[in-house]
Amino acid sequence: MISLRCSHIIVTGGGSGIGKAIAARLLRGGARVVIAGRHMDRLREAERELASDSLYCMEWDVSRAGEAEEHFERAKQLMGGFDGLVNNAALGTSQATGRGYEPWDITPEEWDRLMDVNLKAAFFNMRTAVDIMRREGVRGNILNIASNAACMDIVGSYGAAKLSLLKMTRAFGKRFGADGIIINGIAPGATFTPMIARYAKAIDQPYPRHAIGRFIRPDEIAELAFYLMSNYGEIICGHTVVADGGDTAAV
Ligand SMILES: NC(=O)c1ccc[n+]([C@@H]2O[C@H](COP(=O)([O-])OP(=O)(O)OC[C@H]3O[C@@H](n4cnc5c(N)ncnc54)[C@H](OP(=O)(O)O)[C@@H]3O)[C@@H](O)[C@H]2O)c1
Repeated sequence: MISLRCSHIIVTGGGSGIGKAIAARLLRGGARVVIAGRHMDRLREAERELASDSLYCMEWDVSRAGEAEEHFERAKQLMGGFDGLVNNAALGTSQATGRGYEPWDITPEEWDRLMDVNLKAAFFNMRTAVDIMRREGVRGNILNIASNAACMDIVGSYGAAKLSLLKMTRAFGKRFGADGIIINGIAPGATFTPMIARYAKAIDQPYPRHAIGRFIRPDEIAELAFYLMSNYGEIICGHTVVADGGDTAAV
């Protein structure tokens, strides 16, 4: 029987898109879940939609990496334990800049803003989670949401951050698997969420860039997340599964 390997799980950026879908799947799998983000109104809306007694909301700006430990402690108190992290919060390039995707579209300040969320926070959250699990002798799970941008030629900060996250997943996964901490990642292709609202106007809009000809749904990524955080996911240790409808298959 497939079942979750962990039961008290933080999902950063869980108020929308892929994070919300993952939170919903983990709740259905019997976990207690904290969803975290900067906007409490968004989190409360997700809370109403997911309607579960096992769901908790936390205002948390992950870019303040120095505050990670105290946020984990608060999340642990809310749930009555902690043994799982979904490192999902991120900014898309156009969310960070309000402009396009070309290398010259980004300023040095915007580069830092994106990197602080997509890479620095992901690193410090992963490290804090590992610290807590090792200190408490917990056999837990960490899932890093990268992007298939990590598998393409890098033109900017987003791809650079996601490639680094993929590499950190490998390094941390190999190192802490022996402690019973299973660390994996997912590299989604274009998934129908607010992040890609600039070009994704409808879920049934054709998307020929993917071999499957369509956008990915957040619940499809969530099902994979469930698998990777399950008892079956343990054999995939330190890897990032590319789920991009064939986008980078032949690259
Ligand atoms: N959608 C795609 O096509 C796609 C493709 C590949 C990879 N991904 C990855 O999938 C993950 C989820 O993205 P999504 O598509 O679901 O986009 P989304 O709906 O925009 O979700 C991103 C979430 O991150 C949160 N967030 C942003 N900055 C934050 C901060 N400083 N502190 C805490 N939370 C923060 C946002 O909440 P607040 O604004 O309330 O803070 C939001 O809930 C990201 O890692 C993204 O890079 C997405």
